[in-house]
Amino acid sequence: MKNKVLVAGASGTIGREVVFELLKMGQDVIVLTRNKEQRSFPAQVEIVEGDLSIPETIVGVFTDVSAAHLIAFSGETYTPLSSGYKVVEMMVAENVERVTVLWNGEGKTGTMEKAVMDSRLEWTILQPQEYMANAAGWAKNIRERRVIEEPCVDRPTAAIHENDLGAVIAQILVYGGHASKILTLTGPQVLSPRKQALAISKAIEANITIRELSEAEARKRWATWGLEQETMDYLYAWYKNPPAEGYTVNQGVASILGRSPKTFHDWVKDNIQLFK
Ligand SMILES: NC(=O)c1ccc[n+]([C@@H]2O[C@H](COP(=O)([O-])OP(=O)(O)OC[C@H]3O[C@@H](n4cnc5c(N)ncnc54)[C@H](OP(=O)(O)O)[C@@H]3O)[C@@H](O)[C@H]2O)c1
Repeated sequence: MKNKVLVAGASGTIGREVVFELLKMGQDVIVLTRNKEQRSFPAQVEIVEGDLSIPETIVGVFTDVSAAHLIAFSGETYTPLSSGYKVVEMMVAENVERVTVLWNGEGKTGTMEKAVMDSRLEWTILQPQEYMANAAGWAKNIRERRVIEEPCVDRPTAAIHENDLGAVIAQILVYGGHASKILTLTGPQVLSPRKQALAISKAIEANITIRELSEAEARKRWATWGLEQETMDYLYAWYKNPPAEGYTVNQGVASILGRSPKTFHDWVKDNIQLFK
């Protein structure tokens, strides 16, 4: 029977939470990974190997699948997928009913979003603005030097807890609703990175020095991550002058989950071991 939910990006920040929430709901889950030897997943899931950027590698993966969560990018530099139409064609041919897509929030709309919107699938696109999980990137410097180094440390952001996003996606995949919608999702409060760092400082009972990176320093760091020039331009412009939806709290999570979204304080509690 076609009742499995496939999750792409399941080893990543958001996909991992989608899987966690689906398993809590008792769903049969298939995870898609490019390399199962290098990844670990919960014991209950079925693992299939494949690369969304090379459609020939995912032939047959949708056979038992009624709903799928997809990503819009490929690889570690978040290049927009150019294979979206082919992947969606395969899903339609296999009678997949429902699909959620995590937008590629780096200023580039890829074919995946366009292909699902043009299809007869029941689609929802998720547009989270910023992840609280980005603060995990500070962990090593906080542990080792009690410092965070970040551009635009006073910019406002209504970051979302990755578990809330995973829960929203799981809910839509299993119960439907929100079809043909692009959902902009935020957390429950507006905090700057400086205030986030202060919250971590308080939680670990240690002073953390905040050093604001210049634009040149931020670009130098992003270059070491392999980001393309265009992506860096987008990111820095977003940091310097965030769009209103990035710092305007909305009720999306609460209205879908029927509970308040998690706060940054909750996130720190959930991740405190990273900073000690
Ligand atoms: N950070 C933010 O604040 C923020 C805000 C809004 C939107 N976003 C967007 O969120 C996305 C990143 O999500 P994330 O943080 O959950 O990702 P992540 O933690 O970087 O994980 C990436 C995942 O994608 C999978 N993957 C990559 N290329 C693939 C391919 N060609 N075929 C199949 N799977 C592939 C990887 O799986 P395997 O390695 O196992 O194959 C991995 O699980 C980006 O598009 C980013 O622009 C980020």
